[in-house]
Amino acid sequence: MRRVARLLEQWADKEGLDAGERDRRVAMGHLHDTLKGASAEALRTILDPPMAELPGPVLHGPAAAELLGREGVDDASLLRAIRFHTLGHADLDDAGRALYAADFLEPGRDLRNKWRARLRERMPDERDAVLREIVRARIEHLLARGRPVRPETMGFWNSLAKGEAWVRASAV
Ligand SMILES: [Fe+2]
Repeated sequence: MRRVARLLEQWADKEGLDAGERDRRVAMGHLHDTLKGASAEALRTILDPPMAELPGPVLHGPAAAELLGREGVDDASLLRAIRFHTLGHADLDDAGRALYAADFLEPGRDLRNKWRARLRERMPDERDAVLREIVRARIEHLLARGRPVRPETMGFWNSLAKGEAWVRASAV
């Protein structure tokens, strides 16, 4: 979480965000995985359906957001960012998109390291292009294994995809 927070801080500084927003993003980094070690059964007791029915590896974000909300955190943007930091969501704002990217790109994650280092170098200037690469890779990973793709993830992809106006128009 410290590495994610550090990336968010670096990107906030590069973007010239004010101190309050930078601190908010650092806080997201420190909070987003607080429940990562908990069992799926324990996390499901915190959540109501449909969130309680999510697969085990993505429960910790929604559960952390739920508990923070119960503790009186009323920053909807921060809660949404934490809730959907693994799945993605079309409604993620700038902070939520930064957290999603930082969580995937933090240097401690041992996965396709050269590719991820290149993506890190392009942040935050090319954020949406970088996010397209990440979300595409995650969806391709699921498809290659014959696994389902959550609607939240597809919604995130559609919000990032070129020509997303077509998707919105076709939904009317
Ligand atoms: Fe996480």
